[in-house]
Order: sequence, then structure tokens, then C-alpha cells
Amino acid sequence: MNAPIPLAKVQFTESEINAVVAVLRSGWVTQGPQVAAFEKALAEYTGAERALAVSSCTAALHLAMKAWGVGPGDEVIVPGLTWIATANAVELCGGKAVFCDIDLATFNLDPAHAESLVTPRTVGIVPVHLFGLAADMDAVAVLAARHGLWIVEDAACALGTERNGRRIGEGSHLACFSFHPRKSITTGEGGMLVTNDSSLADTLDSLRNHGAGVSPSATGAAHEMAPFPNVGFNYRLSDIQAALALGQLGRLEEMIAARRACAARYRELLADCPGLLPPADADRHSYQSFVCLIDPGLPDAHARRNSVMAALTAARIGTRPGTHAPARLGCYAASAQETPRAFLAEDLSLALPLFAGLTDSEIDRVAETLHAALRV
Ligand SMILES: Cc1ncc(COP(=O)(O)O)c(C=O)c1O
Repeated sequence: MNAPIPLAKVQFTESEINAVVAVLRSGWVTQGPQVAAFEKALAEYTGAERALAVSSCTAALHLAMKAWGVGPGDEVIVPGLTWIATANAVELCGGKAVFCDIDLATFNLDPAHAESLVTPRTVGIVPVHLFGLAADMDAVAVLAARHGLWIVEDAACALGTERNGRRIGEGSHLACFSFHPRKSITTGEGGMLVTNDSSLADTLDSLRNHGAGVSPSATGAAHEMAPFPNVGFNYRLSDIQAALALGQLGRLEEMIAARRACAARYRELLADCPGLLPPADADRHSYQSFVCLIDPGLPDAHARRNSVMAALTAARIGTRPGTHAPARLGCYAASAQETPRAFLAEDLSLALPLFAGLTDSEIDRVAETLHAALRV
């Protein structure tokens, strides 16, 4: 029987493991010097002025909405195809997530549809760089400026993604990254906010740490209590995680190159696979996932997608739908607007195994299984 090929696989070097052990031995395990070093390294890597580590990208998005003061009556435009956390962050603050349809060729939000959803209650927009491909930020910036909206980038999948030669974060007002195990670097759970707005950074820094202000002990008498100008959370990352992240970040470029090489091989092997549309490429897509679409023109395309996924599973190859159309899920289903292209993407997409360390022969086996499943 063939060995299983997982959808994703984490990879830690001995020196990364040793760095975690060193933190455990040091006795300082919560936010401390390792977090500070990771923030500095990530700010340098992305080209953003400030980076603030948090416990997940969901936490980062929640803090971003809080920092912008989202509350009841406020509408925030989010893509109709994304992990549900993007919308939840808005709703958790009492705002309304308004789902915008997507461009099926990129899986990212359609700026023209986003603009048609703007009302006097719209306060912001959250473009998502889905699966590691940058959203059309030029168009988003134009529409945000025209309507006075703030922009928070959900860059959960996009550490190392570039658009017009610039990394996500360099020109961003505020972007949120994830270090979940399916992302390009991982800390188990973890996230990062990066911003070029220092007063926003100060607010976020306070909100992630119970709402504390700068401790006077850093600047004055040790017996003075820190002021708490905000009502905040505990969304801090630990030094244990940051130590792991520092090593991973050092290998990020190498890991993105490996992911891009896997994507190129898939693209070559699947070019003539009937009814299968590989994802759009771009320089530089960081390939958090390699998500294909079953041709929407095929009869019974949804059933076809499901039978292809069943064939992959039977061959012990990991696969999942690309992601969700949250407007059809849970608490959103009753009231959310229709996003037909996002619904199609949810019904017709499938992610293939992709991670640094995936071998050529494993990719060949995935491609052969797909060809066989789509031939019938
Ligand atoms: C687009 C998007 N946004 C947000 C998140 C949430 O990230 P985290 O798991 O770090 O909270 C994810 C995670 O998969 C995601 O894909």
C-alpha cells in the first residue's frame, strides 16, 4: 500500500528544537526577549515599521477591529471566500460583516463588487490574500480612499507574498499574519500584526496586554502601577513560540522557494488534466495552499469535485476544499448576502498536498491520481 501524503507537514530543525529547549531552561516563558527579537526580525523581513506578536491571526484581526473602534451599526466588507475568522473578528466587536464576492480566477475579493456594497455605515474593508496570492491592493486602496474606509489586510496565508516586488507589510497600513501549522512558518498557534502607523501600534500593543500602558517601572519608580488606558485582552505570544519562530523565519525564503517549485511541478503535470483549473500564479505567490478548481462548465461539477476528492482520499492523499464561503455557514447563513462565485469556489475547489519537503515522486503520484479520477 502507498504511504500517505499529507496535505501539510511541519518541519522543525534540530536548532529550532534546541532554541525552544533553551527558553524552557531559561525560566522566562511568556512574552519576553524572544518575542522582542521575533518582532524585530519580522518587521525587518516585511519592511513594516512595527510588528506585534499575538497568540493567533484571529487575535490579530480582533485587535485590529477593536483598535479601529468597530461597534454596533458599523459595516465592514470582507471577502465571501475566506476562513470564518475574518468575519468573526468584525461580529465579535458588534459590527456587521458584509460579504463581497470574489474573482474566481484568483479566489480574492472583487473590488468592483466591494464598491457596490459601500453604504453610509461602511467603515472599513478587509482584503484577504487568500492561499498566499496577493489581493488587488491598488484597486482596494482606490476604493478605500474614495469612501474614507480603513484597510486591514488579512495576510494569514501571505507571509513572504509579494505584490509588484514589495512584500505584504511593507506598504500596509495594518496587516495580520498567522503561524498556524498550515502556514509558511509555524509556532503551533501564533500571529503577528504589522503596521506603519506608530500610534495604531501603541494601541494594539496595549490591547494585546490587558489594556496596559507603558509600565512606569521601565521609565521611573518601580513601585508605581502601570496605567490601564484601555480595556484589553491577553493575546500575547510566548517566548517558547517566538524562539521557534525565529529559526523558522530564517528559513522562510528557502521554504517559499521549495513551495514554489512544488507548485511549478504540479502546474506542468496538470496542464492537460481535463476539467481541472490550476490556481493563478504570480510573482510572488507564496503558495500557502495549492488550490485547484473543477471547471464550473462541467456537468455535475460539484459531484465531480467530490468524487475526485474521494479518489484522492482512497489513494491516501490529503485534500480539503479550498476554504469556506462563510455567508453560508452558522450564524451568517440566515442573513448574509449571496456571493455566488464564492459559493462556486467552496463547492468546486480542492487543495492538494503542498509543503516544503514534498518530493517530486509524491507530486507525480498526486497528479497521476487526479488524471485517472478526471478521465472517468
Ligand atoms: C484567511 C485566514 N484568516 C484568518 C485565519 C485565522 O488564523 P489563525 O488560525 O492564526 O487564527 C486563517 C487561518 O487559517 C485564514 O486562512
